[in-house]
Amino acid sequence: MKYNFDEVIPRQNTGSLKYDINLQIFGSDDLLPMWVADMDFKTPDFVVNALTKRLEHPILGYFYHTDGFYQSIVNWMWKRHQWKIEKEWITFAPGIVSGLAFLIQTFTNNGDKIIVQPPVYHPFFAVIEKQGRQIVRNPLMLIEGSYQINFSDLEEKLREGAKMMIISNPHNPVGRCWKLAELKEMAELCLKYNCLLISDEIHSDLIMRGFKHLPVANISPEIAHHTITCMAPSKTFNIAGLATSEIIISNPELRQQFQQKMNDAVHILGNVFGDIALETAYTYGEDWLEQLIDYLMDNVKYCQEFIQSNLPKLRTFDHEATYLLWVDFRNLGLSHEELCHILVHKAKLGFNDGLIFGEEGRNFMRINLAYPRSVIKESMNRLQNALK
Ligand SMILES: Cc1ncc(COP(=O)(O)O)c(C=O)c1O
Repeated sequence: MKYNFDEVIPRQNTGSLKYDINLQIFGSDDLLPMWVADMDFKTPDFVVNALTKRLEHPILGYFYHTDGFYQSIVNWMWKRHQWKIEKEWITFAPGIVSGLAFLIQTFTNNGDKIIVQPPVYHPFFAVIEKQGRQIVRNPLMLIEGSYQINFSDLEEKLREGAKMMIISNPHNPVGRCWKLAELKEMAELCLKYNCLLISDEIHSDLIMRGFKHLPVANISPEIAHHTITCMAPSKTFNIAGLATSEIIISNPELRQQFQQKMNDAVHILGNVFGDIALETAYTYGEDWLEQLIDYLMDNVKYCQEFIQSNLPKLRTFDHEATYLLWVDFRNLGLSHEELCHILVHKAKLGFNDGLIFGEEGRNFMRINLAYPRSVIKESMNRLQNALK
């Protein structure tokens, strides 16, 4: 292995969301935090070196998104996803969630219905509600241990007049990498009912071997015309703190409307370091990413086998994408509150409470597995001892 993912790097007292505010989040700071989705691995050296080099120049003035910035996104989409995009389709957003807020403001009105598929990334709920829109739920179905889309329910919700649908592709937290047939059916239903599809593809580079990410906008020109894609290097290369992401819109009318909204809010630039990190990661990051995926797959395998052998009442699911493991604790027969209490105060583990992803997450937990193997082992031992 060229890169060392085994190194344990203390992150306390760095202003880290994951490490430094656990008293507020869990009521305890004496725990191993495995919640918010950033990684405990080093941001790749080639990215850090590019940032350091920029700092050799003593002036950090205004900047613009260079040709190299756009071209690196175009190249990455082609290399990793065989998606041929044009430079003009790319708009900047200072993070996906703020991008979603502006997309909602641009393309829907107060009180409009927006569909989401719980259990799902919880800021989808907040960003819809905070813009004064209505959340419409199209819950995923758990069928024989596999999460599936409920298409008849989706069609009913679309028929009732939803203006927008936001999907997580691949899906956080359940770890599904949606198949072509699933994406096509969802997108075609949205087309049929004139509902704008927003595909949040922030985890699209973190796909387990044997699966393939499909940008929904790459399925057909008709779907592309009606779809907006949110992407970023932030999860892939552990640079979420740089708040730099790309919203890809091939439909010129939609793009012009969104760009106008961003211009009005003066949200056209982020920070110079975010642009440098994005361009460097997308230009030089493939080799590092391939090794990361192998490491993450081994972490997932370790946890799934550990749980199967030592904690047979817990259940995990086919894990196709992301470094976030979705675990079902329902067979323990505990109340959700009892479960949370045991995990925090006995196991001293800070997982994401499944309930934040929707009622469907009651008695589930989301565990961040982007850690050195020794930490993963420690977490599984703590879990076993606490649940004995
Ligand atoms: C599906 C999904 N979208 C968006 C984000 C956050 O994106 P950003 O930090 O760019 O707002 C996350 C982070 O975990 C996520 O899982």
